[in-house]
Amino acid sequence: MSISFESRVVVVTGAGGALGRVYAREFARRGAAVVVNDLGGTARGTGSAPDAADAVVAEIRAAGGKAVASYDTVATREGSQRVIEAALHSFGRIDVVINNAGNIRSDWFGDVTEADLRSQIDTHLMGSFFATQAAWPAMVAQKYGRILFTTSAAGMLGNRGQTGYGAAKGGITGLMNVVSLEGRRLGILCNAIQPNAHNRMGEDMARVMDGEAIDRFSIVPGLGASMTADFTVPLAVYLASEACQSSHAVFSSLGGRFARVFTGITAGWQGDRDTPATAEEVAEHFDDIGDTSRGFVVPDDLINEYELLLAQPAGQAGRP
Ligand code: NAI
Repeated sequence: MSISFESRVVVVTGAGGALGRVYAREFARRGAAVVVNDLGGTARGTGSAPDAADAVVAEIRAAGGKAVASYDTVATREGSQRVIEAALHSFGRIDVVINNAGNIRSDWFGDVTEADLRSQIDTHLMGSFFATQAAWPAMVAQKYGRILFTTSAAGMLGNRGQTGYGAAKGGITGLMNVVSLEGRRLGILCNAIQPNAHNRMGEDMARVMDGEAIDRFSIVPGLGASMTADFTVPLAVYLASEACQSSHAVFSSLGGRFARVFTGITAGWQGDRDTPATAEEVAEHFDDIGDTSRGFVVPDDLINEYELLLAQPAGQAGRP
């Protein structure tokens, strides 16, 4: 199977950065017309400059591809609207939105300022919401769309020093969970990627790292060349393609390994359905409640958790 983006129009936000640049070039190489959006500025999200987007557009055009630059911020409704309008005005349609733009402001939880938290929520979470909602009517009308959200291990798993970043990235997964359910019947499929690649954000993380974190991160060089954006681009390209029928899932790319990241519910401990359990009973069964070794279920949505519970024989509820 070969994956082509001929006649497709792809918007990549934050396309001047480590991952976005490689995504944009690869979509163009595979035939897409690409909107290369990047506000420019620092890793913390201060300042702006057209160079970041312009450089990628120049690379794509030099290689014979089709691309236009967009310098708007995705963090406002108006900015995101202009990013999507760049696709519609320049190329007449919009097939794919890669929500990739991001900033980072690391700090210990007690020192996190409201301004820093809001800056990360605005860029990652609000930016993904605005850009996706701006593209939605065109995708609904053509009954086709692919949305890729960008989460992070910091949000899915946690990373010390990353309150705002982790909250924003966790929020993006929640956004994807709902948008994907609504999009499926409209022909719009949505997934999230949890990438790993050397980038300038690492310097901001390093600024607040303590000795233990530095020790733990010292294993990263062992991953060698696989910590470059080139190792993540195949997953992003597949998830954005017509060939991909997956929706409503998070996928990790780390060290050349691609894997699904999911929310599961353990077999747990079933109390009585007519009489509430006591806190003492919860304490007594707490190990069972958290025990993953007896299996787990991965519900598709909120109602499916009820369905899976009720499908189990009495006394076995919650078992896979
Ligand atoms: P990067 O810092 O190289 O690229 C991010 C780009 O987004 C920058 O070029 C920046 O100018 C742009 N940007 C920032 N705010 C913007 C805004 N409001 N509007 C438009 N553009 C804006 O970082 P990288 O590694 O390329 O990150 C891409 C995405 O992947 C980000 O969402 C990041 O949080 C996420 N990510 C990256 C990981 C990694 O290991 N590289 C790990 C987990 C997540």
